[in-house]
Amino acid sequence: MTDLLAKKRDGGALSTEEIDFMVQGYTRGEIPDYQMSAMCMAILLRGMDNRETLDMTMSMMHSGETLDLSPIRGIKADKHSTGGVGDKTSLILCPMVAAAGLKIAKMSGRGLGHTGGTIDKLESFPGFTTAISEESFFRSVNDIGIAIMGQTADLVPADKKIYALRDVTGTVPSIPLIVSSIMSKKLASGADVIVLDVKCGDGAFMKTEEQAETLARGLTRIGRLAGRKCAAVITDMDQPLGYAVGNAVEVKEAIAVLRGEEKGDLLELCLTLGACMMAEAGVVRSVEEARQELLRTVEDGSALGKLAAMVKAQGGDPAAIEDTDLLPQAAVTLEVPAEKRGWVRRIHAERVGLISMHLGGGRATKESAIDLSVGVVLRKKVGDSVEAGESLAVIHASCGEKAREAAQMLLGCYEFSDEPVARPKLIKQIVR
Ligand code: URA
Repeated sequence: MTDLLAKKRDGGALSTEEIDFMVQGYTRGEIPDYQMSAMCMAILLRGMDNRETLDMTMSMMHSGETLDLSPIRGIKADKHSTGGVGDKTSLILCPMVAAAGLKIAKMSGRGLGHTGGTIDKLESFPGFTTAISEESFFRSVNDIGIAIMGQTADLVPADKKIYALRDVTGTVPSIPLIVSSIMSKKLASGADVIVLDVKCGDGAFMKTEEQAETLARGLTRIGRLAGRKCAAVITDMDQPLGYAVGNAVEVKEAIAVLRGEEKGDLLELCLTLGACMMAEAGVVRSVEEARQELLRTVEDGSALGKLAAMVKAQGGDPAAIEDTDLLPQAAVTLEVPAEKRGWVRRIHAERVGLISMHLGGGRATKESAIDLSVGVVLRKKVGDSVEAGESLAVIHASCGEKAREAAQMLLGCYEFSDEPVARPKLIKQIVR
């Protein structure tokens, strides 16, 4: 390891065998944290070429179990988001794509910090569980086209250890380390087609479009080199996605989109990600044809039907899809009036995510319990005009005191302009 450190420090490329020695040795506890920390910093400063990044990804992928999806018939598709605030995309996209004929066999995670997790959101359906056996996971995907399972403990143990180390050594923002971290997990999850939603802006890892594009190209390149179909969409995270930030409130918004009641940016993003999936899968002649097909799944109710079938198959009560009042409801709701008139110039996404966490809707540590009923529902987004006293958002809280605190914090998330403000473009680039 001392030789490898000197080699990377001096800008050399590590061989396939050297990378495997380092990844497996660290995972088994044979290489100490101080040497692996120094290596992460050397990689951050010196980089890795495409071959090294692929080797690192493959070695990490093989550090634990991998999921063999071959018992599932048809083309298996998966989606990954680099993490955002109010990101309920999977709840809409997965049923749409399943209704259009692809197979969704997805592993999802829980939320941590200011970003939410799909599993927590889905647990808003009373009784719903993602702790299902591999056998019932495969059966559901074969029977209804969709299932979402919690991450198994043994998937990519190398990433769990390396990520925890990067988190405390200032080495998270390294493109080859992010690419190998994300792609090792996606490849180990076994899908044939992988679509990545690379977030860019205030609430994301990648603050600029240029950084996001470099990451998107790195991710898709490694996916292709590993023999999978892969595309990425770079999307704006300078404000929360859609209107709701929390758990049950996000499920409610997702249901409204699937019912065809909300037709804004959130639907557009799901159509774009889904169309990329179908085009990469080769089941349509063009991206436009895929969009039309996906739109049809909303209009004819088949996408909503897939969500209901998945909720039922995984022990949840699908009645909450018809009557969203059956989802967890907060004890208190409080409107947040604007202090002056103007146009919304900015909404700090990360801070809105932190408010939801403060209300109890997110985890400060992995062990924290969360309250599924609380959160924030924005009424105004960037580009909207606001009159003094008009509501900016509704706080859903467990008590009046928490609601008032959150309302005060929310006012600090908004910035206004005296002039009209253009609405930002949600979809910045498609990388295929
Ligand atoms: N998400 C991951 O899974 N890994 C990273 O390194 C960064 C974001």
